[in-house]
Amino acid sequence: MSLYYYMQQSVKFPSGTVKYIFQSNFEELWKTYDKQHTVIITNDHIARQYAHLFKAHKTLVIPPVESSKDMRTIETLAKELMQLEATRKTTLIGVGGGVVTDIVGFLGAIYMRGVSFGFVPTTLLGMVDAAVGGKNGVNMGLNKNILGTIKQPEFILYDTRFLQTLPNNEWSNGFAEIIKYALIFDPALFEELSSNTISHYKQNKAALIALIEKCVAWKNSVVTGDEHERSRRKLLNFGHTAAHAIENVYELPHGKAVAIGMVIACMLSEHVAGLNPEVSRRLKTLLQQYHLPVRLNIDAQKAMDILRMDKKRMDGMIDFIVLERIGQAAIHSLPFTIIEKALTVYEGNN
Ligand SMILES: NC(=O)c1ccc[n+]([C@@H]2O[C@H](COP(=O)([O-])OP(=O)(O)OC[C@H]3O[C@@H](n4cnc5c(N)ncnc54)[C@H](O)[C@@H]3O)[C@@H](O)[C@H]2O)c1
Ligand SMILES: [Zn+2]
Repeated sequence: MSLYYYMQQSVKFPSGTVKYIFQSNFEELWKTYDKQHTVIITNDHIARQYAHLFKAHKTLVIPPVESSKDMRTIETLAKELMQLEATRKTTLIGVGGGVVTDIVGFLGAIYMRGVSFGFVPTTLLGMVDAAVGGKNGVNMGLNKNILGTIKQPEFILYDTRFLQTLPNNEWSNGFAEIIKYALIFDPALFEELSSNTISHYKQNKAALIALIEKCVAWKNSVVTGDEHERSRRKLLNFGHTAAHAIENVYELPHGKAVAIGMVIACMLSEHVAGLNPEVSRRLKTLLQQYHLPVRLNIDAQKAMDILRMDKKRMDGMIDFIVLERIGQAAIHSLPFTIIEKALTVYEGNN
């Protein structure tokens, strides 16, 4: 099916239909939702910087850090929702990056056995990835996203004005996931990214919007057919096995962990899928062009301890996403020990 198909405004998933409201304004929400039946959930940074947008609305605020993505926050928010007398008719609106939308999606799925919720992603990473696809959840200790559900939001509204205040560092994090889409699905996008920089997309709104919508379309092209990640959706985990092993141990932002995870995945792909080493070189250049790391001093043993709890692990094997060439990825069931070897080689190379 063509990519264009997935750019339409309403996208149907097995568990529900999501209204994508592209190129919009936050204020547009109030044409559909009334403040009596909505609660905004955001983080401290955004609540402060965009206070004027939230002034007249019931708003709950969480700390702006990954460590707040846990069950304690879910419980606190649930209590606050009860104090606000939120009922099953209430719509939760998550305004923020992936931390906020992951939490709001999970809370929306379980509060009073489920209320409707929608997202206004405010980071590039949230716009192209975290808000899209219905996966939500929280961490437990160092293990990422170990508790969660799959439930689609009612809407995702895109207001790129929010990106005007996004720190440079967070732009880079978003590009890690964008580079991932290019690597696994889209050779033309890989070329486009290779001949541009972050400033190009910051200064050229049309290019930025086209880029965001293309990534959303790629993600939905996979998720609509495999919402529960039984097959093709797994491809989106490219770079994420190693990323999840190092992200919380080294307190790396998700995008940075994914950048390093993709380098490790390419290294492994050279061995198990015959990937041309030139691709790994091009990837490293591209990551650096977008101010993303390609090396990290990791302790392979520590990373393996986390990986042992990975959701994708089964009976000594792990579904690992390998790259065959730019634009083509595949799922390989690999012995768990091969990952250990790759991490050890990577550790040795640094
Ligand atoms: N559910 C999914 O499918 C999925 C996919 C990818 C990532 N994730 C999750 O998303 C999280 C990462 O998301 P993220 O990168 O958006 O990080 P984040 O939510 O932590 O936001 C990053 C930082 O940017 C700040 N910020 C957000 N919007 C801003 C704005 N407009 N202006 C100024 N500052 C702003 C935040 O306060 C925070 O300090 C991770 O927990 C990751 O596991 C989930
Ligand atoms: Zn990711």
